Amino acid sequence: MSQPNSINTIMKNSGMNFKERKKAAPKKERFIMTEQLKQEFYSEAKKYYAKNNRLFIVDENNKTFLNLFCKYFSNDETFETVHKGELQKGLFITGNKGTGKTSSFQIIQNISRKYNLRKLWFPMIETPKVVEQYNTEKNKDYIVKRYSKGNFFFDDLGAEDPASNIFVYGKQDIFIRILENRYNEFITKGTKTYITSNLSIEDIKKRYGERVEDRFIQMFNLLELVGKSRRL
Ligand SMILES: Nc1ncnc2c1ncn2[C@@H]1O[C@H](COP(=O)(O)OP(=O)(O)O)[C@@H](O)[C@H]1O
Ligand SMILES: [Mg+2]
Repeated sequence: MSQPNSINTIMKNSGMNFKERKKAAPKKERFIMTEQLKQEFYSEAKKYYAKNNRLFIVDENNKTFLNLFCKYFSNDETFETVHKGELQKGLFITGNKGTGKTSSFQIIQNISRKYNLRKLWFPMIETPKVVEQYNTEKNKDYIVKRYSKGNFFFDDLGAEDPASNIFVYGKQDIFIRILENRYNEFITKGTKTYITSNLSIEDIKKRYGERVEDRFIQMFNLLELVGKSRRL
């Protein structure tokens, strides 16, 4: 399989075109237009990074990403027509540490809270916390089930250790199971998954296997945040 590294490479059709999907969407949902979201993103990002005594920087490394990220969350038709992404899929954001992956999602969530935009809100958890809960919880299946359903944002996939289960020999990557379940939920219910990771798609294949990699291509728009760490 070719290695997808940009949104332009992701093309699996869902059957419905943009207009049909828009028509089928729940009516009362509050939404935000692209330009409005971009402005909001800018002002919320300024506030967000100011807490770390940083100015919000938009440069060659993140401007394409930020454009696509805002278009995605404002359901912008051109995300599909121009950029060849798919709005009904989730997002997989890959990039070096410190490039702004986690903070970008947190800024979106701040906007969601501010305007009560439910579409922009989803629970977030760092992947090592999922493994920690799994390791300490007696009912292991409960943890897997809990993270298999509903829209979710998993921060830093690949940063987690393989999980332990005294009933099973050796360590296991429970995200293989969680992502498999989430793929099924995506196909049957349209459940969305959002992921940030330092891993490339090739690394995902190495760690979680070819089957997971294949699912990834079907359930995610793959966006890259290029460049070096912005942490000082
Ligand atoms: N666009 C940006 N402008 C200014 N600082 C940024 C920007 N993006 C990231 N940073 C800085 O880098 C730090 C790390 O960002 P973060 O979103 O946690 O990166 P990642 O999740 O990719 O590791 C932030 O706390 C902030 O100080
Ligand atoms: Mg991060």
